[in-house]
Amino acid sequence: MQITFTDPAPAYARLIAHLANKDDLPPRLERSLVDGAAAARFKGNPGQLFEGFVERDGQVVRIALAGAGDGDATGDNRAEGLEKAGAALAAKYLTSGETDLVLDLSGSGVDAKGAAAVLLGLRLRAWRHDAYRTRMKDEQKKTLGNVTVINSPSGAEAAWADAAAVAEGVEFTRELVAEPANKIYPVSFVERCQQRFEGTGAELVVLDEPAMEMLGMGALLGVGQGSEQPSRLLAIKWMGGNAGDAPVAFVGKGVTFDTGGISLKPGPGMWDMKWDMGGAGAVAGAMLALVKRKAKANIIGVVGLVENMPDGKAQRPGDIVTSMSGQTIEVLNTDAEGRLVLCDALTWTQREFSPSLIVDLATLTGAMIISLGHEHGGMFANDDDLANDLAEAGASVGDKLWRMPLGAAYDKLIDSPISDMKNIGPREAGSITAAQFLKRFIENDTPWAHLDIAGMVWADKPGRTWDKGATGYGVRLLDRFIRNTLGG
Ligand code: BES
Ligand code: MN
Ligand code: ZN
Repeated sequence: MQITFTDPAPAYARLIAHLANKDDLPPRLERSLVDGAAAARFKGNPGQLFEGFVERDGQVVRIALAGAGDGDATGDNRAEGLEKAGAALAAKYLTSGETDLVLDLSGSGVDAKGAAAVLLGLRLRAWRHDAYRTRMKDEQKKTLGNVTVINSPSGAEAAWADAAAVAEGVEFTRELVAEPANKIYPVSFVERCQQRFEGTGAELVVLDEPAMEMLGMGALLGVGQGSEQPSRLLAIKWMGGNAGDAPVAFVGKGVTFDTGGISLKPGPGMWDMKWDMGGAGAVAGAMLALVKRKAKANIIGVVGLVENMPDGKAQRPGDIVTSMSGQTIEVLNTDAEGRLVLCDALTWTQREFSPSLIVDLATLTGAMIISLGHEHGGMFANDDDLANDLAEAGASVGDKLWRMPLGAAYDKLIDSPISDMKNIGPREAGSITAAQFLKRFIENDTPWAHLDIAGMVWADKPGRTWDKGATGYGVRLLDRFIRNTLGG
């Protein structure tokens, strides 16, 4: 999607979009549009769309009115309405046959940030993964390629440049998540990151299996040992802040496919487990956003990449592994593998980078979806300030979080009679015992939050700025969290 800012309107404009605030049509509209909108009960609600055809200067033009909601709303509430207006335009015209859309912001009252919000909604909603669709009918193909913004408020172009970096990050996450597991496996995940971060100023560090063996990462390696695909640990370093400031660390679960291992999952629906690297995808995309907008902060993204397969070499239920921390784990269920990957990634992150705080993201438990559905990610934290900062950032951008409890009584449920802990608890509170497991690997009370995003990375219906499929959840959340807390 090419987005350009010009004035006046290009002569070829055939499709022109105006924003309409709630109960407030833009000024100087033709009567047919005013009456038509009223007849269609168009109110300017967020995401509502009305279109009509009018004659201007002897030419028939297609006019879209995109509802942006309350024009008096401010801040993130206003941005939400504006994003939805942009998203509605993308959804309507992406495959419409129209190639160009002129977005006329005159009379809309939006400022530079508001203009960027419309464009962010438009661009994110227009994303699709068409790489493997070779037989698309014309009416299925993307046609809308250019958006020209006219009568934009001053500063809109700069505001968009900043938002476009975030869009790039969200799109990268979606790409990684949407790709099937024969295309994205640990090594190819690393390669895609190497391509994307080339020349950006970020530094990538990759650990292969011998390197991880040397470090004693028996938990992570145990998960990957049944796969033909070798495991990897990847760190993406961006030191855009003050030299010497401890970095913030984001850590992602990157199980590129989760069959369950010897504790094999049932066949139906197993295909969903191609997106069991959604946490790693969110970390990689968030890092790309932060790097592309040159965030003034020190941030490290670490992803543990493995494929969980059943095999003659696979680990067995009951096996005991030693993690990098030295703690031993009885692997009672090989399908509770995400925590085994994360625990070594967490230990390495702390030993290597001494971060000021850690946020991990993982599609960790099916139980999380039972608890919160697809509306909120679950958040577990040992620090109230961190939890509040994350919840606030998430609410602002629409990547919502809901805090869940931790506690000693839950922790007890993963004690093992033969080792330091087991990797599963009882059926109840499955998301909480998973979080308690991770908490055992946090050293020196480092502020830490675990985001269980199992219900958020994939959608079976369109949402605020996404179609069904990969949502890119987490990228905007982490980006906003850094803006709010480090100002960078
Ligand atoms: N990747 C799954 C969790 C998951 C399930 C995410 C469905 C998204 C949709 C995870 O590795 C897993 O299998 N967890 C088990 C844990 C159990 C064995 C304690 C689960 O949730 O059933
Ligand atoms: Mn699993
Ligand atoms: Zn998993």
